[in-house]
Amino acid sequence: MKTSTSGAFFFCFVLFTAPLSSSFPLEDGTNIAKYNFVDAVSRFRVEFSWRNISCPVCKAIFTVVDLALLSQTNTERVAHAIGEACTKLHLADKRVCREITELFRDDVIRALQESVLWPTEACAVIVGPSCGHFDIYAPWNISLPHVPKPPVVPPTPPKPGSPQSRILFLTDIHWDAEYIEGSSADCKDPLCCRNGSEPPRWRHREAGYWGTYSKCDLPLRTVENMLQNVVKAGPWDWVYWTGDIPAHNVWAQTRSQQLRELTTISRLIHKYLGPNVTVYPAVGNHESTPVNSFPPPFVHGNYSSHWLYDTMAKEWAPWLPAQALVTLRHGGFYTVQIQPGLRLVSLNMNFCARENFWLMVNSTDPADQLQWLVRILQESENKGEKVHIIGHIPPSLCLSSWSWNYYHIVNRYEGTITGQFFGHTHVDEFQMFYDEETMSRPLGVAYIAPSVTTYISLNPGYRVYYVDGNYPGSSRLVLDHETFILNLTEANSLEGGSGLSKPDPSPKWTLLYRATEAYGVPTLFPSDWNKLISSFVIDDGAFQKFWYLRHKGHVSEICEDVCKKTVICYLRSGRYEELRHCGQLDEFSEDDIPSITKSMC
Ligand SMILES: *[C@@H]1O[C@H](CO)[C@@H](O)[C@H](O)[C@H]1NC(C)=O
Ligand SMILES: *[C@@H]1O[C@H](CO)[C@@H](O)[C@H](O)[C@H]1NC(C)=O
Ligand SMILES: *[C@@H]1O[C@H](CO)[C@@H](O)[C@H](O)[C@H]1NC(C)=O
Ligand SMILES: *[C@@H]1O[C@H](CO)[C@@H](O)[C@H](O)[C@H]1NC(C)=O
Ligand SMILES: *[C@@H]1O[C@H](CO)[C@@H](O)[C@H](O)[C@H]1NC(C)=O
Ligand SMILES: *[C@@H]1O[C@H](CO)[C@@H](O)[C@H](O)[C@H]1NC(C)=O
Ligand SMILES: *[C@@H]1O[C@H](CO)[C@@H](O)[C@H](O)[C@H]1NC(C)=O
Ligand SMILES: [Zn+2]
Ligand SMILES: [Zn+2]
Repeated sequence: MKTSTSGAFFFCFVLFTAPLSSSFPLEDGTNIAKYNFVDAVSRFRVEFSWRNISCPVCKAIFTVVDLALLSQTNTERVAHAIGEACTKLHLADKRVCREITELFRDDVIRALQESVLWPTEACAVIVGPSCGHFDIYAPWNISLPHVPKPPVVPPTPPKPGSPQSRILFLTDIHWDAEYIEGSSADCKDPLCCRNGSEPPRWRHREAGYWGTYSKCDLPLRTVENMLQNVVKAGPWDWVYWTGDIPAHNVWAQTRSQQLRELTTISRLIHKYLGPNVTVYPAVGNHESTPVNSFPPPFVHGNYSSHWLYDTMAKEWAPWLPAQALVTLRHGGFYTVQIQPGLRLVSLNMNFCARENFWLMVNSTDPADQLQWLVRILQESENKGEKVHIIGHIPPSLCLSSWSWNYYHIVNRYEGTITGQFFGHTHVDEFQMFYDEETMSRPLGVAYIAPSVTTYISLNPGYRVYYVDGNYPGSSRLVLDHETFILNLTEANSLEGGSGLSKPDPSPKWTLLYRATEAYGVPTLFPSDWNKLISSFVIDDGAFQKFWYLRHKGHVSEICEDVCKKTVICYLRSGRYEELRHCGQLDEFSEDDIPSITKSMC
């Protein structure tokens, strides 16, 4: 049944807005008001009608929700009441409101039932602290073992000619099974280029054969073409794959569809890369339905994520040892030794995400994942083993306490964690980690790799990392990286003889840039990235180059002044709180920090 269309409108709203506010629950809210959600959304030109929501509207909606929750145990009726309120208050258009009641009905309402929010609390999350007071996400601390931190050894380049591992990195594939060439590339829904995308009358852009510069995901042929080209670009020592398999039609997804897509793409990757290349996956926020819904293990029965993790364990069994499959089934995370001297930890970042409304019930180290991470890291430190961490959502976009604890762990184990790799934002960026005492010594960098998908208005792409090793005593640090893209302008329109253009039947995936070359840095150590950020401040040319590469060579919006300051601040903020401290890190005034969150969902 495909009745539901657009819980997403409502929920993406909650999702995007929450990050702007809920981590500062006790602040007075004056600065927070500047974290303007409308700004973030309009920058990505995603036209949601709920942008008009105000504090009174929000409170009205949640009053209705609470009244409904008090008087109804029937989730159906509660959902209906929300839909009604949504229509009456013009929160979104009629169709969207009607369908809010569908997809999100069970899970959202159950979470709300378990953790009833007063309108003022709910609206503190949705609109910001100026609209209420919220402290459900209570602070918590992981505990570190009483083992003194080993002396810090600054990284040094490996001897010339030392072996390097070549790692393929795939993230955010977002395959749209309903992508149709020639369908409307501009529509009111959050996802276009598909059957039923209603074209607005005033524009006539059509979806291209290989993909489209718009709010569109990818047809399977592009994913397959990417894999074919990736194989030609091999050999690969191993592969990191950080999730987000399905398309952005989050309002109309079912569990069986999600599993079919997970299965199809996992098998396709296995088929093309062959049995000898190990792929290490991580769980994205789009793997579940409703999107972002990842109940921690304290939720049992049909509401739990077993339906998802069990299939993952089955599909990924060719790549992962039995021990890893045990924790994967339990919580969607695992650890595995890649080679002697190098261990991988794949985190389920959905347990850090405020978008995961299950965490309203209890957000204290969900699934004990970070405490588990500490244990793994301590064991590795004892053995002299290095650790790479992969995950979907970058840590700075996490709930405040989660992000704070993660930063603390990265500080304590800076000598052990030699690589951090994430995705989710779809653009090519990175974030710095500094020593907690002075916040001035760069000690880590989280790479955020660009997406395979075009969403929104990007070229398709993939990333390659060059890592020191494999030889005894190798640092396992990232030494360089490359980004490959499919230039859609060229791929979709090969010039024919008669002036007509048609798609290139075998389009080229080309090197967009190599990091050391493009940025003129000798190595990619944390200090190099830190210096690069400083150069962005004084050298606009360098920054604009980064901005171009950040969008995989297809820039839709220029970035100057406030935008530039925001981006630079973001790059320095491996921890969520740092967004507030930009004024202290350099000459920028705190007043200038606008909204930074991604409007990807
Ligand atoms: C916002 O509200 C104004 C006036 O109430 C209305 O004209 C406009 O269409 C609304 N915008 C959206 C995106 O709903
Ligand atoms: C967590 O640790 C910090 C720093 O040590 C401390 O200030 C804070 O009070 C602790 N929070 C809790 C909830 O224990
Ligand atoms: C598009 O949808 C219509 C009606 O929903 C259906 O009849 C048609 O076959 C679909 N087209 C394609 C190419 O799937
Ligand atoms: C995989 O590795 C094995 C053993 O090294 C080798 O015999 C086999 O040909 C390889 N398979 C492929 C598809 O490369
Ligand atoms: C479990 O939940 C899913 C999604 O909410 C639903 O489609 C399915 O019917 C449920 N199964 C059982 C046995 O309740
Ligand atoms: C939340 O979970 C943590 C860790 O599992 C537990 O210690 C704590 O008691 C829980 N809090 C509540 C309010 O249930
Ligand atoms: C893509 O191709 C177009 C047309 O040839 C060209 O103008 C553009 O610069 C290319 N983009 C990139 C990132 O190479
Ligand atoms: Zn994504
Ligand atoms: Zn994502």
